[in-house]
Amino acid sequence: MNRIMIYPSMLSANPTKIGQELASVVQAGANGIHWDVMDGHFVDAITFGADLIRAHRSFTSLRFDVHLMVQNPRRHAEVFAKAGADLLTLHREVGDCSRTTLSFIKSLGMKTGMAFNPATDVEDVQDYWDLLDQVLVMTVVPGRSGQNFMESQLKKIKWLRSKLPQTVEICVDGGINPTTLKMCVDFGVDSCVTGSYLFGSTNYFDAMNALRSTGATPAATHC
Ligand code: DX5
Ligand code: ZN
Repeated sequence: MNRIMIYPSMLSANPTKIGQELASVVQAGANGIHWDVMDGHFVDAITFGADLIRAHRSFTSLRFDVHLMVQNPRRHAEVFAKAGADLLTLHREVGDCSRTTLSFIKSLGMKTGMAFNPATDVEDVQDYWDLLDQVLVMTVVPGRSGQNFMESQLKKIKWLRSKLPQTVEICVDGGINPTTLKMCVDFGVDSCVTGSYLFGSTNYFDAMNALRSTGATPAATHC
């Protein structure tokens, strides 16, 4: 049976009450918390920085994963480590995506993730996998929540699962709901990010259970 981890994206939470929203999704059974950091360069939007993450670190011991949609992840790595990030994800498309940057992130005590845009090939992931804890397959073009899931990305999940060791988590991000998550589970995904589906629901517990119905969820990931 599949064991799927579920990570709410705080980008879709009500921005006037992030703390309450965080507490609610933790109570509803989240396995970790996903923070979408956008710099206005790698993507058009600007979201939040390390201060917001630091301010919520004491709310839960669940894993904080920070998805850096920024041009210079290396420059920002230390401040996110100090803010309490447990896993730092950089994009394959940025200039300083390298083994050196991944090693630097690890030297700061964080786990590493590498995200791939829908238009980016995943074949060269094998140059990095020994330094990766997670691969993040984008199933929308990054930049905002609430977009439709791109089925064309499913074959990447299948390919990655066939090539990567089980120790590298394959996570999917964008347009996830129970129907699209079921497809991803069938193709071999280990975990998912959920934004608008979860935070747009009237009952987070029921929404989380609907996602869970696509596979069993293990105990929460504490840092
Ligand atoms: C997109 C972000 C996603 C997004 C998820 O740039 O990386 O994490 O907020 O939101 P939904 O689930 O609504 O696609
Ligand atoms: Zn994300």
